[in-house]
Order: sequence, then C-alpha cells, then structure tokens
Amino acid sequence: MSLPHTGPAPALSIAAIEDADTADVIALWRRCGLTRPWNDPAADIALARKQQNAAVLAGRDGSDVVASVLVGHDGHRGWVYYVAVDPDHRHKGFGRVIMDAAENWLRVRGIEKLQLMVRPDNSQVQAFYQSLDYFEQERIVYAKWLDGREPTP
Ligand SMILES: CC(C)(COP(=O)(O)OP(=O)(O)OC[C@H]1O[C@@H](n2cnc3c(N)ncnc32)[C@H](O)[C@@H]1OP(=O)(O)O)[C@@H](O)C(=O)NCCC(=O)NCCS
Repeated sequence: MSLPHTGPAPALSIAAIEDADTADVIALWRRCGLTRPWNDPAADIALARKQQNAAVLAGRDGSDVVASVLVGHDGHRGWVYYVAVDPDHRHKGFGRVIMDAAENWLRVRGIEKLQLMVRPDNSQVQAFYQSLDYFEQERIVYAKWLDGREPTP
C-alpha cells in the first residue's frame, strides 16, 4: 500500500469530453507520446463516445485540458487507455486524480476490477501505477486485428 496522499487535492475539474474538446485531447495525447500510427485518435475518441460503456474523461486546470483517460468496461472488467498528463503539469497529482475519476466511473457502474496494459519500455509509468496500489499480474496478452491486418507491435 502506498502512503495516503496528504497534500491538498489538486485543482482539476474532470468531465466527459464534448465534441469541441476533441482537438485539445488529441493534442495532449500527441504531447504525451501516446498516439501510434495504427490508431486514429479521432476515430478512437468517436467510437468510445458512442458507447454506453465507455467515456473519454478530461481534466482541466482552468480552461486547459491537462489530463485525460479513456475508460470503459466489457461487462466484467474495466480498462483504461490514453492515461495522460501534460508534460508541463506532471508530478502535481493530476495523474492520480484522473485515475481516481476513472475508478469512480467504473465503480458506479458495478465494475469491481480495473485492468490496464503498459508497454514494457514504459518503465516510469510502472512506478506511477504502483503508487496508486496497482499490482502487476502474470498474464500473456493475445491480440488480433479483426480486419485481418498484420499484427502491430
Ligand atoms: C504517467 C503519468 C500519467 C503520471 O502523471 P502525473 O500527474 O505526473 O502523476 P502524479 O503526479 O499523479 O503522480 C502520482 C504518483 O505516481 C508516482 N510517479 C508519477 N510519475 C512518476 C515517475 N516518472 N517516476 C516515479 N514515480 C512517479 C509519484 O510517486 C506519485 O506519488 P505521490 O504523488 O504520492 O508522490 C504521466 O507521467 C504521463 O502522462 N506519462 C506519459 C503517458 C503515459 O505513459 N501514460 C500511461 C500509458 S500506460
């Protein structure tokens, strides 16, 4: 268990994004190095926002979008993607706050466990999740593109 966060709660207002926020959220993902050539971020946002069981949450510091998470569930487990805090606003607790929001989004929908995937070369983020009481689980992740394309890394 990590120590409780004892400082003042960081000022971040969190809400599901609107159409007008899409460009800001994509810009944040790009600044955070989270986009990949095979993922169209605008399509990912549009698809998530069409579903009952998914949402894109953004955290604003004033009017600026400085944090995001794409959260959803498959009817059993919750998942998060695109966990991002603007590089100019890191280490202020915003990552913890946006993950708290994702956890609450799932909790109120009856989902008991949140899972997430971390690329093995992203070592700094492992300390982040560990400090939020996530623990590593021994699983092998299999994936298949359903349109028949070749596997991506
Ligand atoms: C990971 C990320 C969201 C963390 O955001 P953040 O706002 O800086 O995180 P917080 O300030 O809320 O940190 C929470 C805890 O994580 C730990 N932590 C955060 N970044 C860390 C780092 N680089 N190294 C070690 N520990 C770290 C801190 O100990 C902190 O605990 P404390 O506040 O009790 O001291 C941010 O670095 C980021 O956007 N990274 C790039 C995108 C990415 O890799 N996303 C995840 C994809 S799986």
